[in-house]
Amino acid sequence: MTARWTPESWRSRPVTQMPTDYPDARALEAVEDRLRGMPPLVFAGEARRLTERLAQVEAGEAFLLQGGDCAESFKEFSTDNIRDTFRLILQMAVVLTFAGKKPVVKVGRIAGQFAKPRSSPVEKVGDVELPSYRGDIINGMAFTPDERTPDPERLIRAYNQSTATLNMLRALAEGGFADLHNVHRWTLEFAAQNPSQARYREVAEKIADALEFMDTLGLTQESHPILARVEMFTSHEALLLNLESALTRQDGATGEWFDTSAHMLWIGERTRQPDGAHVEFMRGIRNPIGLKCGPTMEPDDLLPLIDLLNPDNTPGRLTLIGRFGADKAAERLPRLMKAVKAHGKRVVW
Ligand code: TRP
Repeated sequence: MTARWTPESWRSRPVTQMPTDYPDARALEAVEDRLRGMPPLVFAGEARRLTERLAQVEAGEAFLLQGGDCAESFKEFSTDNIRDTFRLILQMAVVLTFAGKKPVVKVGRIAGQFAKPRSSPVEKVGDVELPSYRGDIINGMAFTPDERTPDPERLIRAYNQSTATLNMLRALAEGGFADLHNVHRWTLEFAAQNPSQARYREVAEKIADALEFMDTLGLTQESHPILARVEMFTSHEALLLNLESALTRQDGATGEWFDTSAHMLWIGERTRQPDGAHVEFMRGIRNPIGLKCGPTMEPDDLLPLIDLLNPDNTPGRLTLIGRFGADKAAERLPRLMKAVKAHGKRVVW
C-alpha cells in the first residue's frame, strides 16, 4: 500500500471494469502517448480551489450540488444539451442558496463522463454473445461485433468532446449567462408551467423581492460581478485509467500530481477494492476525490479506504457519495455516517 506512487503504478494492480480486449495493444499505447502531449483540461490551482470549497462544505458552511447525466455520448453532443444541463444546475443552485442560506458549490458531472461500469462483461441476445457496451469512450452501443470491439481512437474523440464541452461551460459561467436575474427569470417560467407547485412559486417570489431590493440599493453586475458569474467545476468517474493517467500532470510549483481531465474524480462502487488499480491511481492524485458507497458497504470496508485515500485527514479531499437505493438509505447511510464521525474522519457527504 505504501509503495511508491506514480501515474502508472496502477498497472501492476488488479484491474476491474476496464476492457482487456483491445485488439491492438500498441495502438492503445500510441493513443495514450498522443494524450500525454495534449493540453490539460483543468489546472492544478482550480482543483485546489475546489478542495478549499469542499472543506467549507465539510465544515457545514456551504452545500455541494453535483448534477449531470449518467453518461455522455457522442451522439447526444450538442450546444443545447450542454446549455440545458448547466441551466438546470444553476436553477437548482439559486433555490438551494436562497432556502439553505449557504453558498452552493456547483459541480457538473460533465465534460468527461463517458465510461460505464457494467454488471457483466458480455451481453447475450439469442445465441449471440458480444462484449457489453461500456460507454462511447470504449466501444459502440449497436449489437454488432464491429461496434462492440474497443477502439482506442474513441479516447481521442472523448477528449476532444470534453474540451469543447468545458470551453462552452466556461463561457456560460463567466460570460453573463449565469446572471442571477437571468436564472431567476427561468425559474419564474418554470413555476408558471407548474401551477400545482404553489410552494415553489412562493420561494420564487421571495427571491424576486430580494433581487429587487438589491437593484434598488444599486448593486449591479458592473459593481458586483459576483452577481453574474459562477464558479463551475467538472467531475466524472475515473474508470478508464488509460485516459486518466495520460492526462495526469505534475504541478511545476509543488511537484504534486493532478489528473487534469476534471476538477474532481470519483471511484465507483464496483472499483473500490483497496488493493485494486483504481484505488491505487486515485490515492496519488491531489484532486478532490469522491468514493461511492453502496448498500453492501460496511464501516469496516469504508474506514480503511478513507485512511488509504486521505491519510492526512485533509478536509475537502474526500467526498463520500451514497448510492444505497431509496429503500435502504434510511438504515445504511446513518450507520456509515456514525462510524465516520466516531473515528474523527473529515469527509463531505
Ligand atoms: N456568484 C454567486 C454564486 O455562485 C451568485 C450567483 C450568480 C449565482 N449567478 C448565480 C448563484 C446562479 C446560483 C446560480 O453563488
